[in-house]
Amino acid sequence: MSSFRQNPSVGAVRRTFAPWADPSATPLIRVEQVTKRFGDAVAVDHLSVDIHDREFFCLLGPSGCGKTTLMRMIAGFEQPTAGRITLAGRDLAGVPPYRRPVNMMFQSYALFPHMSVEKNIAFGLRQDGLPKDEIAARVSEMLRLVQLESLARRRPDQLSGGQKQRVALARALAKRPKVLLLDEPLGALDKKLREETQFELMDIQHELGMTFIVVTHDQEEAMTMADRIAVMDHGRIVQVATPGEIYEQPKTRFIAEFVGDVNIIEGKVMGQEGGLWRVATASAEAPFTIDDPDEVLEKGQGVAIAIRPEKMTIRRGAPEPGTMNALTGEVWDIGYLGDWTVYRVKLASGEIMRISRANASRFVENPIDWDEQVTITFAPDAAVILAE
Ligand SMILES: Nc1ncnc2c1ncn2[C@@H]1O[C@H](COP(=O)(O)OP(=O)(O)OP(=O)(O)O)[C@@H](O)[C@H]1O
Ligand SMILES: [Mg+2]
Repeated sequence: MSSFRQNPSVGAVRRTFAPWADPSATPLIRVEQVTKRFGDAVAVDHLSVDIHDREFFCLLGPSGCGKTTLMRMIAGFEQPTAGRITLAGRDLAGVPPYRRPVNMMFQSYALFPHMSVEKNIAFGLRQDGLPKDEIAARVSEMLRLVQLESLARRRPDQLSGGQKQRVALARALAKRPKVLLLDEPLGALDKKLREETQFELMDIQHELGMTFIVVTHDQEEAMTMADRIAVMDHGRIVQVATPGEIYEQPKTRFIAEFVGDVNIIEGKVMGQEGGLWRVATASAEAPFTIDDPDEVLEKGQGVAIAIRPEKMTIRRGAPEPGTMNALTGEVWDIGYLGDWTVYRVKLASGEIMRISRANASRFVENPIDWDEQVTITFAPDAAVILAE
């Protein structure tokens, strides 16, 4: 266990941390209209984003969307083709990587093969000319953090992939840079170590007052760690918001589908009644009633309705007459995940809906079974309308 763990949870502190909502706050890093082209290919496309001091910022997006390229430009390993990046008000153009208060842990760990684990971790500290005893103290703190104390004298080629990744992480953290860029820092770790390390990272970041920009392919990991998440697609940021907002109020269908599981139903807006939208679909006989006051829609407009599996209820049999937002179908598949059960229900239209239910008790009497006729319902405020 690292020393950081002795502190109480940082959850309560983080909840009040929202500098991006304060118009008078000055961001630490400003990426302004940055484009990066490699030949004809556009890796980053007119991207703007502000990242605040002490923020834990996650970049999420499909492979090839430009995450690493954006980080490399912030670190100074790549120059923007157009646009500007500033750090604490200073334009970074022409500032070499080693002169930026930024450290980057690469997707491919890039350890020094001829050096032991501890020498790898100590490398940057030696270069900076830190006193010997301080280097030793930091190295042992880092070894403890990544749980590699027993392997301190091994060389990288004597380590597993996950162990190498932990050395790279320790080496990146040891220098305690103002800004730390981590490109998939936990990808090679097993689930349990990964979850532990997520909380350790949050503690370290908080404790040392560092700003983290982290790329991950794992959206649960982003939800766990981030103050804000930026979802990227084709070199652009399509939404940047807190994990809760990204999950509950995704701006587009791409985001809804990329972050978490979601059921999408296509429909047409019929109009508004008492502040609620009425949307006709081919999936259900009666139109749906949806409470999404932020949407501005027109009658006849095509929309997608997004509903998370855990926000739908499933029960046996046909719906009572007059049930709001009811879909009927047949249980097609049941996935037991231990903590959750996921039902896949086939509607008459042929669409498959996913409904998840928490397994709060160990035994369920007469559980819903395969091939049963079921009714799915959802509350008007459980759904989000996405204009197409
Ligand atoms: N040095 C380069 N020369 C040419 N094209 C490049 C170069 N580096 C990146 N690209 C291209 O730019 C695009 C963005 O790449 P990038 O590495 O930033 O993606 P990524 O979001 O990090 O993907 P992944 O999740 O797979 O790591 C890709 O299409 C990639 O092929
Ligand atoms: Mg990458």
